[in-house]
Amino acid sequence: MAEANWQNRTLFVADNIRILRGMNSESVDCIATDPPFNKKRIFNAPLGSRQAEQRFDDRWRWDEVTDEWQDLIASDHPAIKEIIEAAVVIEGGTVDHRTGRINTGRIQNSMAAYLAYMAPRVVEMHRLLKPTGVLFMQCDTEANAYLRLLLDAVFGRRNFINEITRRRASAKGLSTRRLPNNSDTLLTYGKTPKYKWNSSYEPYDVAMLNAASLDDANLDGETRKTLEQYDKRDDDGRRYSLTDLANPNRDRPNLTYEFLGVTRVWRWTRERMEAEYAAGRVVQAKPGNVPRFKRYLDEQPGKPRDDIWDDVVQVEPSELDWDTRKPLDLYRRLVECGTDEGDVVLDPFAGCATSCVAAELLDRQWVGIDIDPVAEEATYIRLREATGLNMLNQPVTVRKTLRRSDVPSVSDQKLRDALWNRQGRLCANPYCDSENLRKVDLHLDHRIPKVRGGEDGVMNRIGLCGNCNSRKGRKAWGLFLDEERAQQPHGTTR
Ligand SMILES: C[S@@+](CC[C@H](N)C(=O)[O-])C[C@H]1O[C@@H](n2cnc3c(N)ncnc32)[C@H](O)[C@@H]1O
Ligand SMILES: [Zn+2]
Repeated sequence: MAEANWQNRTLFVADNIRILRGMNSESVDCIATDPPFNKKRIFNAPLGSRQAEQRFDDRWRWDEVTDEWQDLIASDHPAIKEIIEAAVVIEGGTVDHRTGRINTGRIQNSMAAYLAYMAPRVVEMHRLLKPTGVLFMQCDTEANAYLRLLLDAVFGRRNFINEITRRRASAKGLSTRRLPNNSDTLLTYGKTPKYKWNSSYEPYDVAMLNAASLDDANLDGETRKTLEQYDKRDDDGRRYSLTDLANPNRDRPNLTYEFLGVTRVWRWTRERMEAEYAAGRVVQAKPGNVPRFKRYLDEQPGKPRDDIWDDVVQVEPSELDWDTRKPLDLYRRLVECGTDEGDVVLDPFAGCATSCVAAELLDRQWVGIDIDPVAEEATYIRLREATGLNMLNQPVTVRKTLRRSDVPSVSDQKLRDALWNRQGRLCANPYCDSENLRKVDLHLDHRIPKVRGGEDGVMNRIGLCGNCNSRKGRKAWGLFLDEERAQQPHGTTR
């Protein structure tokens, strides 16, 4: 597992693709994020002002995302390629399977373009998570199904954990032609089946439960179940249940002993048993009966939560007017589920830093990224309001760039040797027919260009013959390959 190449409490103000590509692999425990679906907030006016938003096109356009998508190189991720192509076709565009060329037609309000924008970012998020890492990605009902496919493609279906449905504060799209939409979803994935997970509980209303009685005909089903479970009350009116102390494992000689006249394989050691008995927590109804444990309702964490959350609706008051701000309690809950104290939380679309503030409050480390320069001031305001964090003693680091430190940089000579062997002594372009290529004639290039965060390590490099190198110029590697393929007679590859 790599060392992190940033410090706790860092905010990067930049396009997240460049920063994500600059972060060391497997250095993050949890990503909790809420990407934009429309682009309103990508280009923003000064804090509080709304004028600038009108000027920008709100929609995703294919021509704006082509480069990033082509950097990803469709051939490395065939499932993502097919998902994006399916979105193109659903929206009325066409895909030329021979050349790989996508024609979005007149449709520019494109789900496909949105996916092409998200795909390279999701691929990086996956790389950054530790094997125990968890991703929570919030989305609305418009993009949900498409994002879920993309996440399945990158994380693997077996690593899907939950789709949490959250009620929002107010419904969108009031209409007499359909139900107003009032839910968001949080798509939740583990990096591997060994992901870290802390169950989430809804605390009991203990005063109500201690006072309630099963004779009350108006009890709801849940409350009735809890009362039936915690069916006894002590002298103070505290509800409890009596639970078994026998150990399900039979073969435990060190836990086998006589206690209050009964010999069993017990759950606890004799010392613990005696201490609990002295504290009044182990009771025996009458001599000879098996002693049992007194489990108090008010000591339980609460009712295990399910995947429908209608109790984190409102955002708390703030001096900040930020229209996509999410409730702090929502992010607290996510961070608690996916991390322990000290773990690292990343939000690549941090906005006004709700997830970072939640991490700070829960003693986790955090890193946020937002492209909007206003995010810096917003983060300070939210941190001060919610945590009282003293920026002088515990400063937030603000940065604009990052380079990986877990990829050894290699000398040109070593790189040339490595590529020469990896490429089978040929030019990296599979459609190139150059022969008698000499090792010294390999031109070294980047698959993901450095300006978009591509690193210098061997995996991001290619060696081209002089001819291909000059044809490629500054084009993205994927686009260049598509063009080369288009020039071929049907079905020819090397
Ligand atoms: C829906 S908002 C997140 C709101 C956040 N959860 C909160 O409570 O404030 C999406 C954020 O993503 C940011 N964003 C959009 N594109 C980005 C990019 N390419 N890189 C980094 N941030 C980006 C926007 O500036 C915006 O603040
Ligand atoms: Zn070539």
